[in-house]
Amino acid sequence: MKIDVQDFESLVENFQQRVDRALDQWLPAADVNPLELHQAMRYAALAPGKRVRPILVYATASALDIPLDRVDGAASAVEIIHAYSLIHDDLPAMDDDDLRRGRPTCHRQFNEATAILAGDALQALAFYILSHDPRMTENASARLQMIENLSLFSGSRGMAGGQAIDLAAVGKTLNIAELETMHIHKTGALIRTCVQLAALSTESLDETQFRALDSYAKCIGLSFQIQDDILDVTGETATLGKKQGSDSALNKPTFPSVIGLEASYEKAQELHQHALQALSIFGEEADILRYISAWFVQRKN
Ligand code: IPE
Ligand code: IPE
Ligand code: MG
Ligand code: MG
Ligand code: MG
Repeated sequence: MKIDVQDFESLVENFQQRVDRALDQWLPAADVNPLELHQAMRYAALAPGKRVRPILVYATASALDIPLDRVDGAASAVEIIHAYSLIHDDLPAMDDDDLRRGRPTCHRQFNEATAILAGDALQALAFYILSHDPRMTENASARLQMIENLSLFSGSRGMAGGQAIDLAAVGKTLNIAELETMHIHKTGALIRTCVQLAALSTESLDETQFRALDSYAKCIGLSFQIQDDILDVTGETATLGKKQGSDSALNKPTFPSVIGLEASYEKAQELHQHALQALSIFGEEADILRYISAWFVQRKN
């Protein structure tokens, strides 16, 4: 299906609403004990974020002609892992931030212990969904592959590992290769899993197509974090919903601090072009993924 930019925007809105409904159902009700923990989980996961990861899951599914109800579970699980990663990222022991998605961070709204537990419980919930949601697949081995995939990409060899590299890099300068390694892990890994979980939901994908989608995901995973670094310099707190300048205040090495703003824009654009090239084996059914890549490097929040 050929889509224009208006179609893309309405699809994005549609996917955001779709995952919000799914999240609302998966998250424990706020009036169930332990109340504060469940309220904190809902507070963090339902706060108004962009939902780019579920959008990417749904977009990959639509490019591959997979019914969306097969990937509701994957979309929810990835967003829930992301929400947990943000709660922990904002803790005083990590980036020590007070504002997230335009609201007080979870540990500010509740307290540190509740925020840590909310992150822990969200992580467990994500794996509960992948192992439980009956609509995902009837193929037990495909389901296991999805669980394996999300655990690898979110753990010490993926997102959590990237966060460890990030913390160890405070106050240091990294070279470009080291910076890329950090970003590929802390942010790129979860973006890759979005595309892979959707791809694992169908049995009609060949190896070449899988590799092409994965190359695309690697490019946009890195460009997404480069743009995040750029916005920390050029963005505004009100638009970002998180404090502008947080990286430089903490003396974190970022793309702008290491190679400068101009070269960072160029690098993000280059990755966008590589992402488009990776999709060249697909026709207009993948236009939605092309729009997502453009969005990642143009976004203002
Ligand atoms: C912020 O992610 C953390 C990064 C990995 C850069 P998002 O920019 O997707 O944050 P939300 O979900 O929209 O709040
Ligand atoms: C966070 O990177 C990546 C995560 C795994 C959460 P950042 O620390 O740059 O994210 P923001 O800028 O606080 O959203
Ligand atoms: Mg951080
Ligand atoms: Mg942070
Ligand atoms: Mg950042």
